[in-house]
Amino acid sequence: MYNVYRIREDFPILKTTINGKPLIYLDNSATTQKPAVVIDTICEYYKQYNANIHRSVHYLGVKATEIYEKVRGDIAKFINAPNSNCIVFTKGATESINLVAYGWGRKFLKEGDEILITLMEHHSNIVPWQMLSIEKGIKIKFVPLNDDGSLNLTAFKELLTERTKLVSITHVSNVLGIINPIKEIIDTSHKAGAIVLIDGAQSVPSIPIDVQNLDADFLVFSAHKMLGPTGIGILYGKEDLLEEMDPLLGGGDMIKKVTKDYSVWADIPYKFEGGTQNIAGVIGFGKAIEYLNNLGLEHIYKHEKTLVSYTLKRLLNIDGIKIYGPTTENLRLNIISFNYKDIHPHDVATILDREGIAIRAGHQCAQPLHSYLGISASCRASFYLYNTEEEVDKFIEALEKVNMVFKNGNRRTI
Ligand SMILES: Cc1ncc(COP(=O)(O)O)c(C=O)c1O
Repeated sequence: MYNVYRIREDFPILKTTINGKPLIYLDNSATTQKPAVVIDTICEYYKQYNANIHRSVHYLGVKATEIYEKVRGDIAKFINAPNSNCIVFTKGATESINLVAYGWGRKFLKEGDEILITLMEHHSNIVPWQMLSIEKGIKIKFVPLNDDGSLNLTAFKELLTERTKLVSITHVSNVLGIINPIKEIIDTSHKAGAIVLIDGAQSVPSIPIDVQNLDADFLVFSAHKMLGPTGIGILYGKEDLLEEMDPLLGGGDMIKKVTKDYSVWADIPYKFEGGTQNIAGVIGFGKAIEYLNNLGLEHIYKHEKTLVSYTLKRLLNIDGIKIYGPTTENLRLNIISFNYKDIHPHDVATILDREGIAIRAGHQCAQPLHSYLGISASCRASFYLYNTEEEVDKFIEALEKVNMVFKNGNRRTI
């Protein structure tokens, strides 16, 4: 039985007040809060077995290494990867995409090759390809959207040609909350001879993912968006792809042998993990995965869907609210982006903040999408496993306060 009130007890920060009001945290797509078990696990590492990994034969070094490597296995299981060699620790989804861009793209792409991305991508799935295109002369094509914000699959199929070498696409849009049909996209791309990178930054925290069933070539995600610490991310890659990729960072721990003239890389995944890793981060992430497994992703997903459905209904009753993306909850996950009348999103967010409510306001690292929508910024409320309908009610009430402030002529121009 999913008891959100019991779950909230696990999160120390949810007991704090902001501006004298209980915190209502609706900025989960930016980063999620951490349960005490994750925070304690990180402290425990530093207090009880702090040591570097893969080097020292002493007790602490062995213990830290064992736990670090166990987490790799737990993450492999979490996404049903065939084995833990397919799991590379990075510092986040952004670094994972860059690792593919440079480790794979720089080696295998040539002038005239094409990469297909979409108009709803986060900057981290646009900019690395632009940087690579300057270097290699490759072309980036954007799949357009339908009127409701969903991906135009007809256009996608038309843009996919024998020149397309990679399709890199988000599973869930961090602005529209739309869940893309990635199985269909992967199958279609494979038939056209392209490999597929799935940006799972917004989906892996809430949707059970099976990389083998999906036949995904690469999957990237970040620990901090799923109860874990910042500075830790994952690159999942098929073994043969990882084998042929070049490492990005040369240094300690990523080699088998170093001579004065040449070096031999370590096996995967270690050849991608040069230098001392974020050991505490990995260990904390392991605890976050355990916490999510105990709750069950399918229950978390259901909880988020119920909250989004409730919030959509309430928002749609407010005069002057413009919601981006579909207004039916079956097409979206835990994210609702909106604008309120012509009030600047920063003003909306500032007034909500006075009520203890944290939302995101801005371009949300998706400027091409905002340009397409004809806006420079939006407000975003995003939910996670600890949010409640009562919090949504407070959020809706606070929007009424925003309206009152601006009704009284206090508008500032930005
Ligand atoms: C869809 C999507 N992709 C990638 C990222 C980048 O994640 P990180 O900043 O953890 O590297 C984000 C972060 O908001 C995101 O929402």
